[in-house]
Amino acid sequence: MSKPELSAIVLAAGQGTRMRSATPKVLHRIAGRALVAWSVRAALDAGASKVVVVVGHAREQVEAELRRVFGDRVSFAHQKEQRGTGDAVACALTLLEGRGGHVFVLNGDCPLLEAITLTQLESAARESKKPVALLTLELEEPRGYGRILRDELGAVRGIREHKDASVTEQMITEVNSGTYLFDLDFVRRTIRDLSTDNAAGELYLTDLVARAYGDGGSVGLVGAPEELRGVNDRAELAGCATIRRRRIARALGRAGVLLEDPETAYIDADVTIAADVTIHANVHLRGNTVIETGVTIDVGSVLTDVFVGERAHVRPYTVAEASRIGTNAEVGPFSHLRSKTDLGAKSKVGNFTETKNTKIGEGSKVNHLAYVGDGLIGADVNVGAGTIFCNYDGFVKNTTVLEDGVFIGSDSQLVAPVRVGKNAYVASGTTVTRDVPENALAISRTKQDNKEGLAEKLRARGRAAKAAQVAKNPKPT
Ligand code: UD1
Ligand code: CA
Repeated sequence: MSKPELSAIVLAAGQGTRMRSATPKVLHRIAGRALVAWSVRAALDAGASKVVVVVGHAREQVEAELRRVFGDRVSFAHQKEQRGTGDAVACALTLLEGRGGHVFVLNGDCPLLEAITLTQLESAARESKKPVALLTLELEEPRGYGRILRDELGAVRGIREHKDASVTEQMITEVNSGTYLFDLDFVRRTIRDLSTDNAAGELYLTDLVARAYGDGGSVGLVGAPEELRGVNDRAELAGCATIRRRRIARALGRAGVLLEDPETAYIDADVTIAADVTIHANVHLRGNTVIETGVTIDVGSVLTDVFVGERAHVRPYTVAEASRIGTNAEVGPFSHLRSKTDLGAKSKVGNFTETKNTKIGEGSKVNHLAYVGDGLIGADVNVGAGTIFCNYDGFVKNTTVLEDGVFIGSDSQLVAPVRVGKNAYVASGTTVTRDVPENALAISRTKQDNKEGLAEKLRARGRAAKAAQVAKNPKPT
C-alpha cells in the first residue's frame, strides 16, 4: 500500500510586533536558520511532500528567504488581511487542491519542534482514524493560550481561546500548542463554517476541534514543552537559541566531535563536522561551513561558509568567510581570510595576515603581517613579513601572480598587475612595479651608506641642545 499523501501549512503572515524589529519576526534566526525555515524543515523531514507557507506581513522578504533555502519545495499563499488562523488555513487550501491524505498545520515561530514529534502526531492520527490530532501542553502559566476542553471521558471536545474563556475555563492548564494534523477533506468540508463570533472577531482555526467532536473526534497528544515553545520577543528568541545550541552540541558530541566547552560552541544547524575534530571554546561556525576529520579549531575563531580540509589547524582568533582551507594547512592566530581565499595543502597563513580572492599553492607561506588580495600564488612560495599586494589603483582590482618557488623579502610591495616568475627572488623592501623574470633577483632600494662614528656625534649634539633648554627654563611643564 502506498503511503497516503502528506502536506503541510505553515502560518507566517503575522508581524510579530513584540520583537520590536524592522526584520519580520519569522526571519529572525536561530542557529543560522530563519524561524519559519525551522518549521518548514520539520514538515519536510516528517515527510510532507508539499509545504504551503501563508505569508502576509513583509511577504516579499519571507518568500525570498524561503525560496533561497528550499527552492520550489515550498509554495506561498498570500493572506492579504489577517483575519485569523482559520482564514490563514483557508487561504492555503487552494494550493492543496487535488491532494488527499493529511495536512500538518504549524506556526512559523516554533523553532524547537522536531520532525520525529510530527511523525508521532501523524501515527496517532492514523491509528485513531480521527480527523484532527493536536499537540497539547501542560503549562503552569497558561495565560494567552487556547485551553483544551475535554469531556467526562477525557476526549478533546474543543479549544477555548484565552480571551473567550470563562473564569473556570481559565483555570485549565492544558493548552493548545498550535501544532496540528488534519484530515485534508475534513478541513475542506468544515472550514467555511467558521465564524467570527468571538472576542477577537477572527476566524479561529481552533474552532475546527469542536466541529470534529461531533464528526469523528480529535486526538490530543501531550507534547514536550521544550519543543513547543514559541517565539514572541527577543528574550524568547535567545532562550530558544540556547536550547537549539545545546541540542546541536549534544548531537556533535555523540558523532565524535570534541567541543571543549559545549556552552560556548556556536555552531549553525547547517554546518557539517566530521568525526575526530576538536573545537575549542568560543568558536562560531556559521552558514554551510564544512570541517573534515582531524581538524582543530582553536579559541575564538569565527568561520562562515568555510571548507576546512583534513587535519588542518585553525589557530586562535581566526576570522574567515567563503574560503577553503586545504588539508594540513595552518592558519592563525589572528588571520583574516576574506572571501574566495583558497589555501592549498600544507600552506600557512599566519598572524595579522589578511587574504582575499587569492589562491595560495601547496606548501606556500604568508606568515606575518601581510595583505594578499587578488593573488595567484604557486607552490613553495615564501611571502615575507609586511608584504603588501597593491591590488587596487583606485579604479579597478588587479592580479598579482607569484609562480612556484618565489621568495618575497619582507616589507615588499607588489603593484598589480604584476607577475614574478618561477624561483625569482624579490629583495626586502622592494617595490615591484614590473614583471620579474624566472630566477631573477628584483631589488629597488637606495644604497646604504655607513658613516663611521656619526652616532656618537649625533648623541652629543642632542645632549647639548637639551642642556641649553633646561638652563633657560629649569622647571619645564
Ligand atoms: C493560537 C491559537 C491558540 C494557541 C496558540 C499557540 C488560534 C485561534 N489560537 O493563538 O489556541 O494556544 O496559537 O501559540 O489559532 N497567523 C496568520 N494569519 C492570521 C493569524 C495568525 O498567518 O490571520 C499566524 C501568525 O503569524 C502565527 C500563527 O498564525 O505564526 C499563530 O497566530 P497567533 O495570532 O500568534 O495565535 P495566538 O493568538 O497565539
Ligand atoms: Ca502566538
